[in-house]
Amino acid sequence: MLKIGVFGAWRGNSYINLFLQDEEIEIAAVCDKDKEKLYEHRDEFKHAALCSNFDEFLAQGKKRGMTAVFLANYFHEHSVYAVKAMRAGLDVISECTAAATLAQCVELVECAEQTSRKYMLAENYPFSTENLIMERIISEGSLGTLLYAEGEYNHSGSNEQLRELTPGKNHWRAWMPRTYYVTHALGPIMYMTKSMPLYVSARAAHSDLLYKIKDWRHNYDGVGMMFCEMDNGMIARFTGCTAMASDYSRYRVAGDTASAEWGGYIEHGKVRKYYFEHTKPENEELISLLDADLSESGADAEKAKSAGHGGGDYRVVLEIKKYLIDGAEPFFDVYRAVAMSATAILGWRSCLNHGENIRIPDFRSPSERDAVRGDTLTPFPDENGEGISLPCALPYKGK
Ligand SMILES: NC(=O)c1ccc[n+]([C@@H]2O[C@H](COP(=O)([O-])OP(=O)(O)OC[C@H]3O[C@@H](n4cnc5c(N)ncnc54)[C@H](O)[C@@H]3O)[C@@H](O)[C@H]2O)c1
Repeated sequence: MLKIGVFGAWRGNSYINLFLQDEEIEIAAVCDKDKEKLYEHRDEFKHAALCSNFDEFLAQGKKRGMTAVFLANYFHEHSVYAVKAMRAGLDVISECTAAATLAQCVELVECAEQTSRKYMLAENYPFSTENLIMERIISEGSLGTLLYAEGEYNHSGSNEQLRELTPGKNHWRAWMPRTYYVTHALGPIMYMTKSMPLYVSARAAHSDLLYKIKDWRHNYDGVGMMFCEMDNGMIARFTGCTAMASDYSRYRVAGDTASAEWGGYIEHGKVRKYYFEHTKPENEELISLLDADLSESGADAEKAKSAGHGGGDYRVVLEIKKYLIDGAEPFFDVYRAVAMSATAILGWRSCLNHGENIRIPDFRSPSERDAVRGDTLTPFPDENGEGISLPCALPYKGK
């Protein structure tokens, strides 16, 4: 039985819902300073402590046998609490992003190494049904040499929706540069192609629509697009979270013999595979539209269908169990997690400097860690509205 605590009960409540349905997981404690969110599942818990303070959450959880925490607190504060939890002897599953500064990337990696606690990023988009079909096609080798990959994550909304998602003037969603929410676009590319980003160059573009609400959302660029050299020789182009008028998400990987993609103009629920005439195997079509269907995985496929993000949330719970109960190493370990955060952070610096090409540190290397250990630049304010050391939008040039 895995006894887990959940820190942050907004997004966290989606996972609480899934944990409650799982016979191998018991929720030992939940923490949120917002009482309404904290008590949402109160009647369904057996023994969980409900706390509004993190230290009390750790103490009460440990009394109940808690061995791991799921971090679903503010986007830019995950590493702070991951370090606290690991130093308190607990394993950590963290929502995205792993760290908000390069200094935090170093601290997180070193804490995981020093404490030998388990750490996994709960990045869910690679585990949507469509992306898993893509991963299967690519792992079969039918695309040939991988040349190019694309990932696009679009998530905007009406002013009312954005207000609801951005409670308070210091909330991270009001200050997050467009490249920072990178894991939903880059994570699937890394997982499908088993690659890591090496260099990043990026550009952002201003949105007049978002500029109209700049008094309470200061990050008024509409898109941040990153371009990377990957360690498997491939190049990749991907977004952070964008407000482009476009479909929700889309992914594409092209090799020298075939390509696979979904989203955009492709029929919903399908993955499109394309061959050249001269590379097509005899038993395949030039173009095939494959069903995004994993029903051969039986009950899990059914359960995934009713969970969020194309089944990704349910499959993250399976990944958590494989790691924390069975001991199987996760794909999104601490090194891949901080590589994504660093790509987002350096991608933004590239945007501020006309697409400068920047090397992403290898956080396994002590000397490369040392080079960024003191790099605390951040676009996010603290709870008092202080501490910002980077702009969160391109300089406005006016009309
Ligand atoms: N993977 C996904 O599909 C997905 C979807 C939504 C959100 N998220 C991620 O989940 C995280 C949380 O996002 P959210 O949508 O819940 O919004 P949010 O960040 O506003 O909510 C965080 C919650 O944590 C609580 N909290 C934060 N710091 C606390 C503290 N020190 N003590 C007590 N309570 C504290 C807040 O009260 C709030 O309820 C973010 O990192 C976000 O990126 C991921």
